[in-house]
Amino acid sequence: MDSNGLKPAGPSEDIPAPDARQLERAAAAIRKGSAIAVTGAGVSAESGIPTFRDPGGFWRKYPPEEYAAYSAFLRDPKKVWKMWQERAAMLEQARPNDAHTGLAALEEMRYLQAVITQNVDNLHQEAGSRRVIEYHGNARQMVCLECGRSEPLTRSRIQEIPPKCRSCGGLMKPGVVMFEEFIPEDALAESERLAMGCNSMLVAGTSAQVYPAASLPQIAKYNGATIIEINVEPTDFTHDLVDVFLQGSAGSVIRRLTEHLKAGSSG
Ligand code: APR
Repeated sequence: MDSNGLKPAGPSEDIPAPDARQLERAAAAIRKGSAIAVTGAGVSAESGIPTFRDPGGFWRKYPPEEYAAYSAFLRDPKKVWKMWQERAAMLEQARPNDAHTGLAALEEMRYLQAVITQNVDNLHQEAGSRRVIEYHGNARQMVCLECGRSEPLTRSRIQEIPPKCRSCGGLMKPGVVMFEEFIPEDALAESERLAMGCNSMLVAGTSAQVYPAASLPQIAKYNGATIIEINVEPTDFTHDLVDVFLQGSAGSVIRRLTEHLKAGSSG
């Protein structure tokens, strides 16, 4: 357990690494190009950020109906901002891991078109990914509910909670999409367009339980894409939707997949 009493889900040592045959099946699909990645909290677990629904996950300590729903935020903004003081500290300390740098490398190699991420930690961008669609917004900013002004969300700025707008004194809200809120229209439309047109989709580190994000692999599959899942354990999608299940921690699996593709491309 870390100092916050939360347990980052991290890699499990006893998982057998994917064998070369499975890696090659995934690589063959990715080599066609027009691959898309959809990522969840599991890709940031090895950066020390707890996932949400794993044992010891963030929602165990902070039930989402009390801390991540828009109505709960309006009811008690100070309570939700107190949680964000802890979350902002974790996010500020986190650095990209091999999962983030591997996906950035796949974009550099022109296999990957974009990363659609449910995460709000900015680690894909910090790792060098250029095309990142932030499906659930981001925690770098906060926005005024009165005048719409946004400013950086930093630990120092939220020492006093709830933070008030420096222009109009209105209530500031973290720049993330809370439950009961809509996905930003541009992110929704762009993600669906990419899911419909991709040859393969890497679904990494997500329990695939939250919609509409969880519909993206279904859209891709329906449109003929190869679905490659990277997770420490099977999900509800693994049996019916997934073509190649690469079991293991996202950092090590994506690193090995990227190395496999680099070796192949120089061959
Ligand atoms: N490597 C790969 N996968 C991992 C790792 C790891 N090191 N550690 C955990 N996982 C997997 C878990 O097995 C699980 O399937 O990551 C997934 C994490 O699931 P959740 O905690 O539900 O996170 P996520 O799927 O991103 O949640 C989606 O729900 O609460 C909302 O807004 C929140 O964006 C979040 C959304």
